[in-house]
Amino acid sequence: MYFYIFMKPILSLLKTALVFTLCLLPILELNAQLALIPYPQKVIVKGDSLSIVGLTLNPSIYNAALKINTPAFESHSAKNKKTAIIQCNIQQQASLKLQGEKEGYVLYVLKNKIEITANSREGLFRATQTLQQLMHQFATVGKIPCLEITDYPKFSWRGMHLDCCRHFFSKEEVKQYIDMIAMYKMNTFHWHLTDDQGWRIEIKKYPLLTKIGGSRKSSMIGPYKNHEFDSIVYGGYYSQNDIKEVVAYAASKYINVIPEIEMPGHSVAALTAYPQYACFPRAFEVEKEWGVFDDVFCTKDSTLQFLKDILDEVCALFPSNYIHIGGDECPKTRWKTCMQCQGKMKKLALKDENELQSWFVQDIEKHLNAKGKKIIGWDEILEGGLAPNAAVMSWRGEEGGTAAANLSHAVVMTPGGYCYFDHYQDTPITKEPLAIGGYTSLSKVYNYQPIPKNLPADKTSYILGAQGNVWTEYITTFKQVQYMSNPRICALAEILWTANEIKDFNGFKERLKLHSQLLDALGINYCPNFLTEN
Ligand code: ACM
Ligand code: ZN
Repeated sequence: MYFYIFMKPILSLLKTALVFTLCLLPILELNAQLALIPYPQKVIVKGDSLSIVGLTLNPSIYNAALKINTPAFESHSAKNKKTAIIQCNIQQQASLKLQGEKEGYVLYVLKNKIEITANSREGLFRATQTLQQLMHQFATVGKIPCLEITDYPKFSWRGMHLDCCRHFFSKEEVKQYIDMIAMYKMNTFHWHLTDDQGWRIEIKKYPLLTKIGGSRKSSMIGPYKNHEFDSIVYGGYYSQNDIKEVVAYAASKYINVIPEIEMPGHSVAALTAYPQYACFPRAFEVEKEWGVFDDVFCTKDSTLQFLKDILDEVCALFPSNYIHIGGDECPKTRWKTCMQCQGKMKKLALKDENELQSWFVQDIEKHLNAKGKKIIGWDEILEGGLAPNAAVMSWRGEEGGTAAANLSHAVVMTPGGYCYFDHYQDTPITKEPLAIGGYTSLSKVYNYQPIPKNLPADKTSYILGAQGNVWTEYITTFKQVQYMSNPRICALAEILWTANEIKDFNGFKERLKLHSQLLDALGINYCPNFLTEN
């Protein structure tokens, strides 16, 4: 009894404190750091909040951007009356705040509605991605803080690449990859479709490319040094209808798809189907091993015609201005002893095989330029002289990109040490899934600056942006694609979107911890090391 009398005020105090804390909890959560990735250029959080109880996020949020000036999103009020709560508007020069940026947007969360204003549908769509992240973060609280976000990107090329040759990913998986690219407000998907180990795009004029070149008899397993192979037939390809479906899907998210058709190297799968286009035709086999191979496309006229026919079909499928023609890792071994290649060099007065490759790329460029397309290639296309209108993807460090920008050519930075997401991302590597090698941590990606330090100021505008590359020699499943991409894609997205002055690695990691709940909800796999690291 005495105990009760003594304890009663304490219990009541505890009860009051508990009720107070529970009431405060949503407010505290409302004040939490916004788990937005990439972080917007300007955020002003206001004092109030908007109720999101009963609001469904998908799929209407994705369609919101398409339904301009109409209620895109409805919530059921207590009386079951539908209330429009999201209003999207396109206004030319929507706001001076957007500095004319076509992908920019202004997002207001007001007490009774959400307003999005942009210069274009693209901007409205990017805004819905911010909204999706906000809605998820505050779903359990049931309300979003009132705020004003003014946002636009830093770079125009914000890309992710996926190698679907070494391992094949279904069109549904490719669409999931596109969803992930869109979530981080990236706008370019570089689709690697042809390589030594598999040709993955249907070409109607040359059906053997997929029929024969689309599968290999066996694959390398385990680390390269073991030189072990399975005996399982491995293949897959995208029909032209599949390609159209993926391209349209990406377009609905304002993502440009850039196809890569490799030439003159990385062409063993194509040569297996059509050996007559090699320097020394023989019965080739689609490669089972990873690496670089001596048998490449010959520079004879018939091969160039074959490639132009292929590119004509590719151009009809992809609305992209840029077509990626590869150009990397092309040994000149065969060209050196091929009568036709040597004859061509003599006729064109080319001094070496690098100049022959440069001629080859320029011939393809002329063909594509005449069709209103531009070429982009790996930085080896600088060797022997850069084609007049070519853009360069700098992968062997930043030197190629720097040289091309100095020559006033467009550049996409994707240096191996920062942007190759097939490298290890955690140590000890023995704990990690087998990878190609290297070590590219999250902080390394986050601290990367796409504009090379030594580039003169008047050349910096040639750096369009950067891209993360996911080569799949050692990535056998789509879950592993997600694991290798995430969260490094978050770091890359932020350096490409957010102003340097706002970037902050510790703040980014805190946001990432909150954001990982959205990844969990969406079933996206990721490397969790940032959850426990200091
Ligand atoms: C490349 O990684 N071979 C472009
Ligand atoms: Zn040849």
